Amino acid sequence: MEIFLDTGMVDEIREAAKWGVIDGVTTNPSLIAKTGRTQEDVIKEICDIVDGPISAEVIATDTEGMIKEGAELAKIHKNVVIKLPLTEDGIAACKWFSDNGIKTNVTLCFSVNQAFLAAKNGATYISPFIGRLDDIGHSGMDLIEEIRTVYDNYGFTTKILAASIRHSSHVREALLVGADVGTMPINVVKGLFKHPLTANGLEQFLADHAKANS
Ligand code: E4P
Repeated sequence: MEIFLDTGMVDEIREAAKWGVIDGVTTNPSLIAKTGRTQEDVIKEICDIVDGPISAEVIATDTEGMIKEGAELAKIHKNVVIKLPLTEDGIAACKWFSDNGIKTNVTLCFSVNQAFLAAKNGATYISPFIGRLDDIGHSGMDLIEEIRTVYDNYGFTTKILAASIRHSSHVREALLVGADVGTMPINVVKGLFKHPLTANGLEQFLADHAKANS
């Protein structure tokens, strides 16, 4: 499973990029708003840090506006992926981008039927939001598993990008059900490294080494 960082904060991206485990970045209008910068500036800088798919979301809600805005975003860098909402207009725009060889990430997916429509129109990525489904008492992971089954049944090549990941267990479960990508905040990536037995074991090794060499 690929790991994307879900943020617009470039210092976080620089920090995580050093670990060598980050394959791409996703942003959304809320994450860009937190930076206090323009989307174009942020995306340009991210593209200089990470050589992988970088999702930038359109603000327009009509197909024509999405195409216009997305086509401009795509000019920023060859790695830019156009993020479109899962609406009738977004799915129509998705078809235009896939017909024109531009990668897309269809976002705000909460059902297998929505994921089916995105795949039909050639989405590069589908983003089911795990955490937001869990928040309302549904199972985000069941949705990932269902989409995996449907895409495998019909040979759809759209990648399942598990989004709205909130903690390490989401990552573990997404790995087990076969998500292609997981996008997560930096604190979740940091959590993947951690195990108390690793920390305790290292502390003991270093203490024993120091004792033997004192
Ligand atoms: C990523 O593409 C999504 O925008 C993001 O994962 C949403 O996460 P949230 O539900 O924690 O805001």
